[in-house]
Amino acid sequence: MAVSLRSLIESWDGVGVVTWVDGETGTWIFIAIHDDTLGMPSGGTRMKVYPGPAEGLQDAMRLAEGMTRKWAAIDFDFGGGKAVLAIPRRLEPEARRGLLQRYGRLLASLHGSFGTGVDLGTDPEDMLVIGREAPYVHGVDVEAGTSEDPGPYTAHGVVSGIRAAVAHVFGSNDLAGRVIHVQGVGDVGEPVARMLHDAGARLILSDLDTRRAEGLADALGGAETFEPHTAYRVSCDVYAPCAVGATLNDETIPELTCRIVAGSANNQLAEPRHGDALHARDILYAPDYIVNAGGAIALAMMGRGIRDRDRILTRIGGIEDSLGEILSAAAAADESPMHAADRVVEQKLAAARAARGLD
Ligand code: PHE
Repeated sequence: MAVSLRSLIESWDGVGVVTWVDGETGTWIFIAIHDDTLGMPSGGTRMKVYPGPAEGLQDAMRLAEGMTRKWAAIDFDFGGGKAVLAIPRRLEPEARRGLLQRYGRLLASLHGSFGTGVDLGTDPEDMLVIGREAPYVHGVDVEAGTSEDPGPYTAHGVVSGIRAAVAHVFGSNDLAGRVIHVQGVGDVGEPVARMLHDAGARLILSDLDTRRAEGLADALGGAETFEPHTAYRVSCDVYAPCAVGATLNDETIPELTCRIVAGSANNQLAEPRHGDALHARDILYAPDYIVNAGGAIALAMMGRGIRDRDRILTRIGGIEDSLGEILSAAAAADESPMHAADRVVEQKLAAARAARGLD
């Protein structure tokens, strides 16, 4: 069912949405600011072709809500926000650069209402272009001309999350021999696959770009690959969605043949009720914003001047324990881990609001 921009904005519980239409490229820019209780709303900038602007706005809003939870869960003082650049078609490099520069100037004009970083469809180079215009870009050092890629850090957290989930279900966090399907082998999925391979897992890879999956399978010495559109059906211990969101929906959930879903994609559940649907099927769902927080942790630590890779990786590795606690709490209450995670986040936000005298 088509949604309208107006109904989306009117029914949203967020702080607000900045909308800008870039005349030159016909791009709709949405900066969705969900919650600023904990600090400056921050989240990635996604660039993608959507069926229409409303779908782009809806994605920005849902992703912004996820960022509110993610920052609260990992105890960093940022709020939730996300930007979507809904391009009408793939842009040529010059047009793309111009768009990013104008977007950077738009960000600068917001004077710190939103900070951004890499997300699906954008890369560290793009962040440098934006960072030359706006001072609120995570991971960018304009003077030094450097821009960090959070992807491998996110991947480290995903593997930690998978270990927690595997330990919860099978009694040991050893990944040797576990059958794991990595869906999407891009900036995060590829390093996830490599780490899992090194840990002895048996990999199944799928990607909309089938050559990419096959190339990585060859590089890893013969992982299996699977046709992308029906890949969710593949039988495995762990299904790790590492690309687009909403792969857990009414159509896919009845056909899943895995014990665990744990991956990096944001907003894996098409709707919140799908968390319960997975629970009813006895499939353990590791909440996405817990599993994929490694990139946010890395960018936030670097923003505080912490450059020591080992220190950053140790903190990200803590996802294994924090997810383990959430999974145990959910098991004790016989509910989807999504509820247990959301509760922890709500408590933290409520405490922060109370401390600031907002409630
Ligand atoms: N987009 C990534 C995420 O959702 C990385 C990122 C985190 C970018 C925080 C900006 C700010 O986690």
